Amino acid sequence: MPSDRLLSVLTCPLCPAGLHRTGGALRCAGRHTFDIARHGYVSLLTGHRRAPSADSAEMVRSRAAFLGAGHYDPLARTLAGLATELAPPDATVLDAGAGTGHYLAAVLDALPRALGLGLDSSVPALRAAARAHARAEAAGWDVWQPWPVRTGCADLVLNVFAPRNGPEFHRVLTPSGALLVVTPTARHLRELRASTGLLAVDPGKEERLRRTLAEHFRHERAETLEYPMSLTAGEVTGLVTMSPAARHVDPAALRGRVAQWAAPVRVTASFVVSVYRPRRGPDRRPRAA
Ligand SMILES: C[S@@+](CC[C@H](N)C(=O)[O-])C[C@H]1O[C@@H](n2cnc3c(N)ncnc32)[C@H](O)[C@@H]1O
Ligand SMILES: [Zn+2]
Repeated sequence: MPSDRLLSVLTCPLCPAGLHRTGGALRCAGRHTFDIARHGYVSLLTGHRRAPSADSAEMVRSRAAFLGAGHYDPLARTLAGLATELAPPDATVLDAGAGTGHYLAAVLDALPRALGLGLDSSVPALRAAARAHARAEAAGWDVWQPWPVRTGCADLVLNVFAPRNGPEFHRVLTPSGALLVVTPTARHLRELRASTGLLAVDPGKEERLRRTLAEHFRHERAETLEYPMSLTAGEVTGLVTMSPAARHVDPAALRGRVAQWAAPVRVTASFVVSVYRPRRGPDRRPRAA
């Protein structure tokens, strides 16, 4: 159930008004009404705004199981450490493309009075994110659209393997806020790419990301995190199933191929965690080419 504090963050997506609670819904002064789902998230998406890139129920189930097994915990710890360094204990934290809310929950654990809001366009992801943490809220939204969130309300924006919207990241952050972006490096899961149909990571991805964000953000620093994981055949299948490759890999064929491997397999996890700071006034750059 959305908290009163969340209502000071959200705005109506159809007009500039704020939202208040009325029964099982949120409503603005113009009487636009948005249901609070039984599972605790609020759906602000109206019909024509659905994102085609939303994760399916199977992708979300696989991600929840994989993350729950702790394989990406070093990444969660890195994000939590950066959050304590960069944001106040009572921060407002927005997570764009929050998925199951796994990283948002780790950051909220590290900031004792913080409020977290996960935005995602996948209903199964929102169900998980709404119960990821006692101080986590979740709202159905397409992050490529202008966000139904007040200007300058966030101390920290997280973006972990999810779509990016530089102008909106910038608008919602306070001038002293920070944006944390996680991307995979070209070495991430490299042992699995040829055999499982996982998509290759473009080695120029990080550079392109910096160029895209440069109009609104100054790149402050980057931490590379790389470590070996030991995965069972089932976990490898889960990894592929939770990735965009799932859309074009036949799950039965994949399970058949992977089942023949002698477990456990050694697989590299390799991420870049970048810290960006909002540019202000004359510091703003012309739009990236
Ligand atoms: C690769 S998952 C990452 C989830 C989470 N950040 C994590 O790392 O566990 C990408 C997420 O972005 C969501 N997503 C994709 N396109 C979106 C959009 N346009 N607006 C909001 N969420 C979107 C998907 O539903 C999915 O939950
Ligand atoms: Zn309205």
